[in-house]
Amino acid sequence: MRSARPVSHAPLRLQLRFGATAAPPLSYDKLRQTWENHTRSLYTFFDEPLLIVEARRAVLTDYQGREYIDFYNNVHQIGHSDARVAEAVYAQMLKSSLSTRFLSEVTPRCMRYCVSEPLSCLAFSYIDALISKMPESPTGKGWSVFLVNSGSEANDLAMQIARDYTGRQRIVAIENCYHGITSAINEINSSSSTGISASKGSDASATLEEGVASSKAVLDGDGTAESAPAAFIAETVQGVGGNVDWPDEYLKEVFDHVQQLGGITIADEVQTGFGRCGTFWGFERDGVIPDIVTMGKPIGNGFPLGAVVCRTELAEAIEDAKLFSTFGGNPPAAAAGLAVMAAIEEDNLVARAASMGAFLRSGLESLCDEHPHVFERVTGRGLFLGLHLRVPSAAKKHPHMPAILQECLDHGIVLGKGGIHSHVLRFKPPLCIEEDQIYRCLQVVRDVCVKLA
Ligand SMILES: Cc1ncc(COP(=O)(O)O)c(C=O)c1O
Repeated sequence: MRSARPVSHAPLRLQLRFGATAAPPLSYDKLRQTWENHTRSLYTFFDEPLLIVEARRAVLTDYQGREYIDFYNNVHQIGHSDARVAEAVYAQMLKSSLSTRFLSEVTPRCMRYCVSEPLSCLAFSYIDALISKMPESPTGKGWSVFLVNSGSEANDLAMQIARDYTGRQRIVAIENCYHGITSAINEINSSSSTGISASKGSDASATLEEGVASSKAVLDGDGTAESAPAAFIAETVQGVGGNVDWPDEYLKEVFDHVQQLGGITIADEVQTGFGRCGTFWGFERDGVIPDIVTMGKPIGNGFPLGAVVCRTELAEAIEDAKLFSTFGGNPPAAAAGLAVMAAIEEDNLVARAASMGAFLRSGLESLCDEHPHVFERVTGRGLFLGLHLRVPSAAKKHPHMPAILQECLDHGIVLGKGGIHSHVLRFKPPLCIEEDQIYRCLQVVRDVCVKLA
């Protein structure tokens, strides 16, 4: 464990040794030109793209020195540009950044003869740290970990593990879900979340509104061996779908059913894990122990890192697959991951997500009470909350959401949207958010929405 020391958020003054070249001065017009001409699939949230030149804790600064409080970026769980993560990665990059392929070959010797070798220690320390956060595995055989580079890769691999283990193909997801960007995942993503028309193939979606019975029916399929589920995958609070919490018992009942059918349960904790919901894992509240947990986004606090933790029996089933990721779990990534875990503990961020989440939630609920014609309800958990705006009955999308987001931005608050009708304001700030920042956000959201919605 790292020893505790005061947190410094002063700019890093690292000595660059190898004659680093300075970045050319930024020209907004030039960047905009490149964006418009050469990046067709890269959409931005605002008509006038926000050019951020610096980010610290929960505050973003744009190229003109304007500051914004960030209620959107849930990657930077411990705060933007955290010196502890930057220093850990920097120090490791100067020692070694060998790929995992090499790591796996030298590891046994390093472990035996040279325990202080940073290469082996970091990846294994990180794996141990992840496992220490897991509940006891239901079969007592323990957990295995695969380190990858993103949430998409983690979910893709989880689906592959479930298919190989069960010998089945069908993956069941929940309507309005988002699990990533690979072509395998696009088979199960809801097209309302991605805009990509999913060719559902043998995969299927359970509709939450129709309740547990309907989800069980989707899982049962037509009773043939072919329609038996390989896996059921769920975000433990649905993100892109609008920060929507499952009804009590929903996940428990559906997970039990999947297990009775011989399928694998996958909890996608890419957004909800690592304290976001006021518990370390989102699934803790639901009283379930998934067979596979996937993670990404905040686990590197901005450094690309993802992981799959699965019951060891499942990992054994794909032992011969010789899985290999050049960068997955490389030493700098493991250094970032360890620094993030230590910082979550050091700054007591899980409890902070619960207390600040309760503060934000009570403010949002007051808005619903005061302006019931504008705001409908609040959903989510911890610092992962959704404020649902009322949608005019004939509208498919909330007609004023783009203007609302823009005006919040003009008042220094960055927010995101979600929900099937683009009608949910999503709140998922860094967990170090302060009370006065939340208070300012509530004021802006109230004034802007009451004026525009
Ligand atoms: C719940 C969930 N799972 C997986 C992903 C994919 O993660 P990434 O974009 O890092 O590949 C996302 C991304 O938004 C997500 O929200």
